[in-house]
Amino acid sequence: MNNIEWQESTLILLDQTKLPTEISYINCTDWRQVAEAIKMLRVRGAPAIGVAAGYGLILAAMEAARLDAPFNEQLVTFYDFSENLKETRPTAINLAWAVERIVNLVKAEAKTSSDMEHIIKIITAEAELIHKEDVGLNRRMAEAGASLFEGQRNLRILTHCNAGALATGGVGTALGVIRKLHEKSQLERVYADETRPLLQGARLTAFELYEDGIPVTLETDNMAAYAMQQGLIDAVIVGADRITTKGDVANKIGTYGLAVLAKFHNIPFYVAASYSTFDFTLKNGSYIPIEMRDDYEVTSFHGVQTAPEGIDVLNPAFDVTPHELVTAIITEEGVLTPDFEESIGKLRHIVHNK
Ligand code: MRU
Repeated sequence: MNNIEWQESTLILLDQTKLPTEISYINCTDWRQVAEAIKMLRVRGAPAIGVAAGYGLILAAMEAARLDAPFNEQLVTFYDFSENLKETRPTAINLAWAVERIVNLVKAEAKTSSDMEHIIKIITAEAELIHKEDVGLNRRMAEAGASLFEGQRNLRILTHCNAGALATGGVGTALGVIRKLHEKSQLERVYADETRPLLQGARLTAFELYEDGIPVTLETDNMAAYAMQQGLIDAVIVGADRITTKGDVANKIGTYGLAVLAKFHNIPFYVAASYSTFDFTLKNGSYIPIEMRDDYEVTSFHGVQTAPEGIDVLNPAFDVTPHELVTAIITEEGVLTPDFEESIGKLRHIVHNK
């Protein structure tokens, strides 16, 4: 069973909040359940929330079709629902990208058809395509990323958060590259940052790699500097939630700190992301909306209070790594190197001409 599966009008999601101690699934038959799952991080990771939202739109269209109202009103309701789904999380562009891709298709289709059943079929095909496409993008990124390490062996790679199969529709972005290196017997070990405050590194990355028999060492986030200083890390590879045209990268909180550390220790810092993670409308990382999450994520863990009651808390879910700290960006179209404005411009050209 996969982390995301569409089966006969139901979206089945692996509930990632329960990992690693419990493998349980939620059945979504209403788009609001999909929205809740995205908000509560039951499904998380930039590409995965895009894929889940795509399927959520089928449920939204089905509900709109049940309205005893003319086609145009059903459409307006569907657009309303889509806006709601799009707004569940603000930083990862993949979510808005997937919703807009489907909504634009519906708008085009609605010019010649006023049959909601037909619209549902179109949405279903596109949602499935987005999912299938992500599998292929992951594979191509893995190949491109592995080419950076040609001829190298015994690699020790540090990663942050979870950019693996759980965060995507396929083998993962950063973990896809890592898996490929393992397959080619070039990998010695992965160092997985625990990733405070919600422990995606410990609960998900360490879990995924361990299950797949890939050597992994878990460290808390504040141990990364020590590991680098001790010469334990050859490269950092992370995923991304949004990348601007200059190459500034939003990713899980703590990524920026890692990039600064990598620069100081002269360790290459790589980002793996597909075209759906690039925001070609934003030049500068300062324009990326950063999701601020609830205080309780910092003041407690698994329901146990770990800080004084009522304490002030800072809880941004993401930070932005300036392009100057990024060695290269691994995409399905190959490896992008500085000048990023130029190399990302070329990627944009390729994407728009497809
Ligand atoms: O808050 P999350 O768990 O959705 O954040 C996920 C990340 O920041 C990942 O590093 C990113 O989406 C990687 S892309 C596979």
